[in-house]
Amino acid sequence: MPQPHLRTVVVLAAGEGKRMKSALPKVLHPLLGRTLVGHVLAAAAPLRADRTVVVVGHGADQVRAHLAEVAPEATPVLQAQQLGTGHAVRIALEAVPDATGTVVVINGDVPLLRAETVAALVEAHEGAGAAATVLAAEVPDPTGLGRIVRDADGRLAQIVEERDATPEQRALREINAGIYAFDVARLRDGLGKLSTDNDQGEEYLTDVFGLLRDAGEPVAVHVAADHVETLGCNDRVELAALRGLLRDRVNAGWMRSGVSILDPHTTWIDVTVTVERDAVVDQNTQLRGASVVGAGAVVGPDVTLIDTTVGAGATVLRSHAVSAEVGAGASVGPYAYLRPAARLAEKSKVGTFVEVKNSELGAGAKVPHLTYVGDATIGAKANIGAATIFVNYDGVNKHRTVVGEGAFVGCDTSLIAPVEVGDGAYVAAGSAIAQDVPPGALGVTRAPQRNIDGWVARKRPGTVSAAAAERARQAAEDASGGAAAAREGERIHEGGRSVGGPSGAGDTATE
Ligand code: UD1
Ligand code: MG
Repeated sequence: MPQPHLRTVVVLAAGEGKRMKSALPKVLHPLLGRTLVGHVLAAAAPLRADRTVVVVGHGADQVRAHLAEVAPEATPVLQAQQLGTGHAVRIALEAVPDATGTVVVINGDVPLLRAETVAALVEAHEGAGAAATVLAAEVPDPTGLGRIVRDADGRLAQIVEERDATPEQRALREINAGIYAFDVARLRDGLGKLSTDNDQGEEYLTDVFGLLRDAGEPVAVHVAADHVETLGCNDRVELAALRGLLRDRVNAGWMRSGVSILDPHTTWIDVTVTVERDAVVDQNTQLRGASVVGAGAVVGPDVTLIDTTVGAGATVLRSHAVSAEVGAGASVGPYAYLRPAARLAEKSKVGTFVEVKNSELGAGAKVPHLTYVGDATIGAKANIGAATIFVNYDGVNKHRTVVGEGAFVGCDTSLIAPVEVGDGAYVAAGSAIAQDVPPGALGVTRAPQRNIDGWVARKRPGTVSAAAAERARQAAEDASGGAAAAREGERIHEGGRSVGGPSGAGDTATE
């Protein structure tokens, strides 16, 4: 009789994961954008289960807090003492006394499991009207895993843990992946009959299969197409291996959907990231969290994006970005640092050794070199000269700076917030601007320049500079035929250079 499609998912996540040697519960270790248990929940999500129960125990508070964030619909159930996987499922089912139909049980530490495989297991189970179906896989090295023992007809006889197995059973390479579908009523029956008569003195969920079979119930094995999906995680060596396998799977998926990944071995893309067609991801690049890379954008080499959006056709080179937005056709780096709420409009530029935080750059605005932009709004097509500092912090509070559209800020300027540079205004290089500059005006705070003639000869005699100065003096003297030789005392020129023209405002800032 086909089962009703009311489903319950039970995820087992109470174990300590001793071999991780970690203060963090094993199931909370991260793997390309999700925790181990997060991956398992994502694989089960398309089942649209009626109820999802997660058995927690070790680090229960931490696991509960994580579940509240990533799977608020899931019900955490406490297994105070880890008395075995059978005991864990029994406790889980107490939380869903009204459950009917199929219950899917998944170990919390199989992060490579794909949703398609869980769906296929459930379909096979429900299609066959089985009482219990186990996901199995042929693996090259079955060490430590439960073995699938079949009878002479090839049907499941029992599942035997390695430590309880005979030498012949240990030689079997077909293993229990720790993922199951059960008819809930018959599962409850089986769980009620479990003993702890085994090497670990625990209630084994796997014993339910032998018990049901002995009671004449149909039990089945569903073999996974790819054993890699069933790999568990017991220590950090295995975690690193799983990370590499998942990286390859994710990268292959994006390449097949039209993304160029130039060096897949050094490209790490979280499962939560989106990369659009014809984007190019160059080597040593990490795309993390909710990041999105737009069509035709070029990202890398040596780029980390965390929760950052890169628009179509933009370029990000050797840079680090967190919670930032890079507009279409914009250019970032090399060596830029975009911090939260850095928002770069289309075709804007943030260049080398530039840090941007909580600031908007208008379309086509440029900050090419050596600059800190904090808490600012920069208008479209404005140009910020090299070594400009947006002085946003007075030691207590942060203040905003506004630079108008088409404004031009000369090199080595401090814009001391709160301050506004108007549309089309200029700021002379080397200024410390603490008062608003009206639209179209030139703001300048530089002291007039003095040149003190002969200062080096008098104050730095015997230095390389003094020798060079002496040679220059000689050359000038020779050129003027010695006519101007007589120099007396020191002369001080005030106002040696005007600051009025565009060169005074620091046009060397742009490329
Ligand atoms: C289990 C299976 C084994 C299978 C392997 C696949 C049993 C008896 N054995 O062995 O056949 O090949 O998984 O990886 O089930 N857990 C609880 N509460 C407990 C005990 C465990 O929640 O009291 C959770 C753990 O956190 C883990 C999962 O159940 O996520 C599996 O437990 P683990 O101790 O890793 O079982 P294995 O020995 O690996
Ligand atoms: Mg295990």
